[in-house]
Amino acid sequence: MPKTLPDESGAAVQLDAPHPKLCADSETAELCLLLETIFERQGIDFRDYAHSSLKRRVLRRVVEEGAGSIAGLQRLALADPMRMERLVTGLTVHTTSMFRDPGFYLVLRDQVVSILRTYPFLRLWVAGCSTGEEVYSLAILLHEAGLYQRCRIYATDVNDAVLAKAKDGIFPLSVMQEYTRNYQKSGGQRDFTEYYTADSKFVVFRPFLRENVVFAAHNLAGDASFNEFHGIFCRNVMIYFNRRLQDRVHQLFHDSLVTFGYLGLGRSESVRFYPSECGYEAVSARERLYRKIK
Ligand SMILES: C[S@@+](CC[C@H](N)C(=O)[O-])C[C@H]1O[C@@H](n2cnc3c(N)ncnc32)[C@H](O)[C@@H]1O
Repeated sequence: MPKTLPDESGAAVQLDAPHPKLCADSETAELCLLLETIFERQGIDFRDYAHSSLKRRVLRRVVEEGAGSIAGLQRLALADPMRMERLVTGLTVHTTSMFRDPGFYLVLRDQVVSILRTYPFLRLWVAGCSTGEEVYSLAILLHEAGLYQRCRIYATDVNDAVLAKAKDGIFPLSVMQEYTRNYQKSGGQRDFTEYYTADSKFVVFRPFLRENVVFAAHNLAGDASFNEFHGIFCRNVMIYFNRRLQDRVHQLFHDSLVTFGYLGLGRSESVRFYPSECGYEAVSARERLYRKIK
């Protein structure tokens, strides 16, 4: 039986899907060709993403672009840079929210902050940060813990469009009730409105929350590490990768963490079954928060 995990829409993602090159049916062959073309033209490697969910997203683009088939979509994208950009953006899922899974942040506040306090300076990496909600959440938590002034957060994503939004720190007013509830459930005790200014449609997070953040493009499917970190947060990103790419990224993170550094993953993700598994102990297995022990 192939191993599967639910993605964020609840659909099953097959973890051990064969490499696209080994796939036979014609639609899958067209998908393989499309991924090769995107890699050649755009330099972004989707070839080791979990196949089933990637195919769903490509087929959605086929419908939205009126392309008729995956091969048709490829022709249209090659002829029109805007379509290519929409295609590349549409291949990744950007769902995120502030203080997502509040229990995760509770564990950070209760069990991790006191250890982080022992370091003179902190380097933290939010990999796959999407539009930045997770980054602002972390900055707020560190600010409340008195640690923000001595930390640098590296916030990276493969997608330039979401990174640009993350840098702006502007979010719709309509989601603030949910974010405020999450903040409170995560142990936040202040008035959440302290952190942003609002108009009738949008909120803008206060500039100090960006001051110690470096936003940069980084592709987990190909790029190397760029520092040594006390904490790496890569939540709800690897769920979209196949086993080979997950192994690569786990190795990258293990190599990039200081000994006793922390690794935070998403609800459906884990260090279990990976070669680096024994290099970690669980801080909270439920919240998918681990500590590198060797
Ligand atoms: C579902 S969002 C998760 C956002 C946030 N980490 C969270 O948990 O709320 C996944 C993000 O991973 C990014 N991503 C996908 N493939 C990536 C890659 N190869 N390298 C870096 N980021 C990637 C996507 O662009 C997207 O913004």
